[in-house]
Amino acid sequence: MVFAADNQFFLRNIWYHAMPSRELKPGKTIAKTLLNEPILFGRTAQGEPFAIKDLCPHRAVPLSCGSFNGADVQCCYHGWRFGPTGKCLEIPSLMADQQMELSRFDVPHYQVQEVQGNLWIYMAESTTTAAPPPALEIPRVPGFADDVQPAMTYRMRFPCFIDHAVVGLMDPAHSPFVHRSWWWRGTQLNPEIKWFDPSPYGFTMRRHQMPDTMGRGYWLIGGVPQNEIIFYLPGVRTEEITTAKYRAVNLTTVTPLSDDETDVTFEFYWNIPWGFLLKPAMRYLIPEFLGQDRDVVAHQQVGLKHEPILRLIKDSDVLARWYYQLKAEYQRSQQEQREFVSPVKTQQLRWMA
Ligand code: FES
Ligand SMILES: [Fe+2]
Repeated sequence: MVFAADNQFFLRNIWYHAMPSRELKPGKTIAKTLLNEPILFGRTAQGEPFAIKDLCPHRAVPLSCGSFNGADVQCCYHGWRFGPTGKCLEIPSLMADQQMELSRFDVPHYQVQEVQGNLWIYMAESTTTAAPPPALEIPRVPGFADDVQPAMTYRMRFPCFIDHAVVGLMDPAHSPFVHRSWWWRGTQLNPEIKWFDPSPYGFTMRRHQMPDTMGRGYWLIGGVPQNEIIFYLPGVRTEEITTAKYRAVNLTTVTPLSDDETDVTFEFYWNIPWGFLLKPAMRYLIPEFLGQDRDVVAHQQVGLKHEPILRLIKDSDVLARWYYQLKAEYQRSQQEQREFVSPVKTQQLRWMA
């Protein structure tokens, strides 16, 4: 399979990770571009998150240049005020006897939801706030309640289009070359054999026992761990490591900001009572690890400028191929207003890594 690097599009009508909830404080706003759209995120004084287009409908001044009083946003140019749903509330220049239908000047608003310490935004086809299809759930980390907070969060900006960040993060063959830290692994390649199954809007690396390298050390964590990885659109990956006693899950999400910038957010959830002891080491290891992925994608940008054809080989690029197929099918099924049909088939994949 070949893939033209310039065939770039963003998926619409789907939930994207906007930011970790704790970044958005009550009474504050954060301006952020997502899928090339300027968006103003805010949280009311009562704690309700919201998102509206960061563009005043009067003269296009970003609303983020204005002010927020914990209830509504005021533009800095002529003081028009807008509520958290984008409703135009006031035009100060109007005289008392100058009536005007203010709803003509409403700002588009986006649906947002908070789950497990993250803010998700539904990016509809157009900003006329279409409702998400009920079948499309907000991503959730399996085995944890909705009000749980991640034990750790780390975010890194990748200088690339979303597809290259996703493919780079899921790529099973790059580790011996990209992740050459002393603490991670050597350069020796070993055979990997894993089963993959289709799962909603993505695929799952079948749950399996992890290699028995710690020997008797496993009593510390309650037995030999099992590992399962789930991936789904638009770019959400959960990796579960579980023993009879404990559960640790890494949630990785990608958020496209523009055609050449993508945020990668790496979070951990666990029920390990001594998990806090892991944090100092992880604060050091995660940036180094993710930084290696980012750096190689930055090198790739140099080559992509020449609009090359990219080649996908078996079996180590099957996951990348599935990603492109899933994405294309999602878009087609939306356009044709029909059920999504997964292109993924149960398969054993074998590669050296
Ligand atoms: S530009 Fe915003 S009120 Fe005039
Ligand atoms: Fe990597």
